[in-house]
Amino acid sequence: MKKVAYIASESVPFIKTGGLADVVGTLPKVFDKKQYDVRVIIPNYLCIPEKFRNKMTYVTHFYMDMGWKQEYVGVMYLEYEGVKFYFIDNEYYFNGFTPYGDVKWDIEKFCYFSKASLSILKAIDFQADIIHCHDWQAGMVPVYLKTLFAGDLFYTSMKTVMTIHNLQFQGCWDIATLKADTGLPDYLFTPDKLEMNKDASMLKGGLVYADKITTVSNTYAKEIQTPYYGEGLNGLLSARNESLWGIVNGIDYDIWNPQTDSLIAKNYTVKTWKKYKKENKKKLQEMMGLPVDEKQFVIGLVSRLTDQKGLDLIDRVMNEICQDGVQFVIIGTGDSRYENMFRYYQGIHPTKVSANIYYDEAKSHMVYAGADVMLVPSRFEPCGLTQLMALRYGTPPIVRETGGLKDTVEPYNEYDQTGTGFSFANYNAHELLATINYAKVVYYDHHENWEKIVERAMVQDYSWGQSALKYQELYESL
Ligand code: ADP
Ligand code: GLC
Repeated sequence: MKKVAYIASESVPFIKTGGLADVVGTLPKVFDKKQYDVRVIIPNYLCIPEKFRNKMTYVTHFYMDMGWKQEYVGVMYLEYEGVKFYFIDNEYYFNGFTPYGDVKWDIEKFCYFSKASLSILKAIDFQADIIHCHDWQAGMVPVYLKTLFAGDLFYTSMKTVMTIHNLQFQGCWDIATLKADTGLPDYLFTPDKLEMNKDASMLKGGLVYADKITTVSNTYAKEIQTPYYGEGLNGLLSARNESLWGIVNGIDYDIWNPQTDSLIAKNYTVKTWKKYKKENKKKLQEMMGLPVDEKQFVIGLVSRLTDQKGLDLIDRVMNEICQDGVQFVIIGTGDSRYENMFRYYQGIHPTKVSANIYYDEAKSHMVYAGADVMLVPSRFEPCGLTQLMALRYGTPPIVRETGGLKDTVEPYNEYDQTGTGFSFANYNAHELLATINYAKVVYYDHHENWEKIVERAMVQDYSWGQSALKYQELYESL
């Protein structure tokens, strides 16, 4: 039996700001419980819903050195759908309304979290074979393990995997602050270790010290070894190329299932979608304040509204997109620049654009089910989950060919009648527009071909099965 500890800043169903939470909460469920004991460690944020917090039980607490001070570390526990979750309890650090806020404070918070997560393994007597760290918030774990914890026999045989969900965020701050926050010695803050352009990067620390590195698609694994996508770490990632694996994400097929989803208006399958999917479209239009008309070509977008997601391309051509026969439903939150951009377009095209500037899991299901296409024109996309959900709901994605989008959406080819969606290569607004227009032509003028695209999309398998096997192979290789 292999013991694996997942360390991450978010996990469904407790706390989620993006796809990281979906992965951390879903992947541990998939491993064979006879072979793998996978447990998950996340912070006990005050913003985790009461219904979960009330069910947690107290395990233990102790005090831990953090630089010049001592910090309280409490451990709370909850088993959810067969997975054991441990929550690091500390009200000083985890009392915000959201998991992240001020960057400098977040850096101190997750230095604490990384060290506390390692420390609790001993307190709960879970001598993990593998510690699987996710993103910069857990980046200091491999560093601590190979330095401060190296002399402790309990920890010496542990191996680490560092998974990059997003290279853009690294937990970078000046060296003096990070030294104080981590309590780690000077020799670690050099360019071959944590130093990054005269500052220090927590993620870089993880990438230097982890035994294996993974990222969430094959294409992104290649892209991050180039300057354009490498965020200053392409040299290090190329040097560690032998230890870098790309493993594409899956989604939870129990939750994301149009046949059983209780959050959509009418359930359907690949056999019945022609009859029932449109009921979801009408309900979506009604819900989102658009004219109810099943003949409209409805474009959906469910996204964090940040530069990563290619929203400036949409901005350039939005008026051209909003032609006759098109409606555009957006659900998202993020940078005010993009929030206001979509509000503005709703203002000038009130019968065509519905801008819903909030986070709403339930309504997102209605968009996946009710839209005709899902737009994901990202500048970069390590994996992307929204296109996978869209495929499953028979809503062909329109994507830019980058990262996981390239690996999971096969562009429609009208000559050999293959493909599950539409794609464009360059980060260019007119390529995006041309691709949307092409999809529209297929939808209106070659509907029999459109139906085949939908059906091919729906039968793709992006459940976790295959990818979990790859993670097992990785764990065994350690
Ligand atoms: P990222 O992690 O970069 O945000 P992903 O595509 O991997 O992108 O994951 C995004 C996840 O967050 C999906 O589960 C998507 O449905 C969800 N999501 C994003 N924005 C919203 C929103 N405003 N309301 C509901 N769900 C959202
Ligand atoms: C990140 C990436 C996204 C990926 C998710 C889960 O947030 O932006 O592409 O799907 O992590 O791995």
